[in-house]
Amino acid sequence: MTADDPSNSNPELQNQEPLADTGPLRHLDDWEDDLKLRYPKPKSEKFFSQSGDPAPHNSLTQTTGEKACGVDQSKPRDSFRDYAAEARSSVKEFYRLNHTFQTYDFVVSKRTEYLKLDHRKMGIWEAMEFLNTLVDDSDPDTDLSQIEHLLQTAESIRKDGHPDWFVLTGLIHDLGKILCLMGEPQWAVVGDTFPVGCRYAEGIVYHEFFKENPDWNHPIYSKPLGIYDEKIGLDRIIMSWGHDEYLYHVVRDYLPLESLYMIRYHSFYAAHRENEYRYFFNEQDHQLFDWVCRFNEYDLYSKSDERPDVKQLQPYYQSLIEQYFPASIAW
Ligand SMILES: [Fe+2]
Ligand SMILES: [Fe+2]
Repeated sequence: MTADDPSNSNPELQNQEPLADTGPLRHLDDWEDDLKLRYPKPKSEKFFSQSGDPAPHNSLTQTTGEKACGVDQSKPRDSFRDYAAEARSSVKEFYRLNHTFQTYDFVVSKRTEYLKLDHRKMGIWEAMEFLNTLVDDSDPDTDLSQIEHLLQTAESIRKDGHPDWFVLTGLIHDLGKILCLMGEPQWAVVGDTFPVGCRYAEGIVYHEFFKENPDWNHPIYSKPLGIYDEKIGLDRIIMSWGHDEYLYHVVRDYLPLESLYMIRYHSFYAAHRENEYRYFFNEQDHQLFDWVCRFNEYDLYSKSDERPDVKQLQPYYQSLIEQYFPASIAW
């Protein structure tokens, strides 16, 4: 944990031994592995909604009319309980910290700290190599490195014949995790994301942990709409702080809007899997959110034991990077 980690000031948390320096997870990707317990790969390809066929809209009062991606409507909501029973204690503790400390004020302070993009200057491949220096307590023989996860995601998108910007999105989507190397605790880098400044939706995993969050009883932030208006559009919603929002701001000038949606909302499981917060969506969100569903399929299910050949793939990906990015960008 870092010196300014708010959990340091909480005596209850000081007594708990984290398994790694920046949080309870043994390996940063334990969170993503755990998502597959919660959202196992669907059997049917048709399970995911198709692009170009936007689902009907819903409102604050009618929140179940729209099909979230990959959601089996026949599955009882109690499946959450099964998930909770299986989740490893380190993941549960990770969520407790995340839900306790992701307040509106915390997010605003991190946005002020990072969104000036004055921390580093580096190219995309350089950032991939930088992220790969993230050493955690993983088993090098069985766990994929960060570069390998990025390449596997990109390669599975490429194999399906998608446009090059979609492949590039797969390649870079987790680069925001360099926040860990800048001293941020795990709970402020990975984990499901959600809006702050309004009520924490019940569809967010381990919703009960929000009761420890100071915003839980806030007179405005505890209301369903909080500081926002209905149909305000996701772009004007302040999301919890993590690798998705940070990377979006780093790359927003270089990639198409569809790609930016995938990057910015890929951990927003409450919306893309649980159908929450749809009352904030505007027309553009309804049209483009389907890309987040399509991307999520590759992010969660492309991991395999077959390790990508980084040296062999590097020339192809470096020329793809050069098509969209200058040699160096601001982080
Ligand atoms: Fe991610
Ligand atoms: Fe990922």
